Amino acid sequence: MAERLPLVVANWKLNGDKVLLAEMIDALQAFESNEVETVVCPPFVYLNENTNGVKKGAQNIAEVESGAFTGEVSGRMLRDVGCQFVIIGHSERRAMYGETDAVVAKKVLATLHAGLVPIICVGESEQQREDEETIAVISKQIRAVLDDLPSYSDSLVFAYEPIWAIGTGKTATTEQAEEVHAEIRKVLASYNQELAQETRILYGGSVKPDNSKELFSSDNIDGGLIGGASLDVESFTTICKNAVA
Ligand code: PGA
Repeated sequence: MAERLPLVVANWKLNGDKVLLAEMIDALQAFESNEVETVVCPPFVYLNENTNGVKKGAQNIAEVESGAFTGEVSGRMLRDVGCQFVIIGHSERRAMYGETDAVVAKKVLATLHAGLVPIICVGESEQQREDEETIAVISKQIRAVLDDLPSYSDSLVFAYEPIWAIGTGKTATTEQAEEVHAEIRKVLASYNQELAQETRILYGGSVKPDNSKELFSSDNIDGGLIGGASLDVESFTTICKNAVA
C-alpha cells in the first residue's frame, strides 16, 4: 500500500475574516508537522494575505484563463498569490450555482493547467443513499473528471462528502465512509493503478475533533475537508493532530 501523506483542508465557505486567518496561521505554524499536510481555504479576498508558509487554497476557479468574465478569478491569478489547491465541485456549488459534472471537469483542467492541485468533491444526497444509488452517483461524478484528463500524472485529491452529512452534525459512520472511499479507489484503479495508490481521498461532512481520529484511522480515508469545525482554531488544529497516525 502506498504511503499517502494525510491532508486536512479548512473550507471556510462564506465565513471568516482577517483576524481569524491570522489566528489560524499562527496556530498552524505552531503545530507544523511533516506527518500531515494542512491547507486553509478562506474566501478569495483573503488569499493575498501572507500566510507565512501555511498552504492556502481557493474555493472556486474560473473555467477560463482571462477575458470578459466579470466576477471570475483564474488559476493563473490564484497561483500568482501563492495558492496551491482549489476546491472544485462542492455540493453547494453544484446545487446553488448550477455546476454540472461538465463544468467540474473543465475547472479541474483549468486548475491543473495553472499548476495547482484540485480537490474534487463528490457525494450523494440522502434520497440517493436511500435508493442505494450512492456508488453509481459517485462513480459518474468521478468518471466525468477522469474521462477528460489528458494524462494521469498530475496530483489530484478527491473529497467524499455525503450531502446529508454536510453541516448537519450527521457524520457518515467510519464503515459507511470507508466503503465509499474504497469504491472511489476502485474507480481510480480502473483508469490507472498508480493514480489509485497515490491519490488522497478525504472525507468531509460534520468532521469534528471527537469523530476525526476514528475516521482518519480507516485504510482509505486520507484526511478531511472540514467546514464548520475549521472556523474554530482549536477544533481545527485538534482535527489536524488527529490525522497524524
Ligand atoms: P461541514 O462541511 O464540516 O460543516 O459539514 C464540510 C464541507 O462542506 O466541506
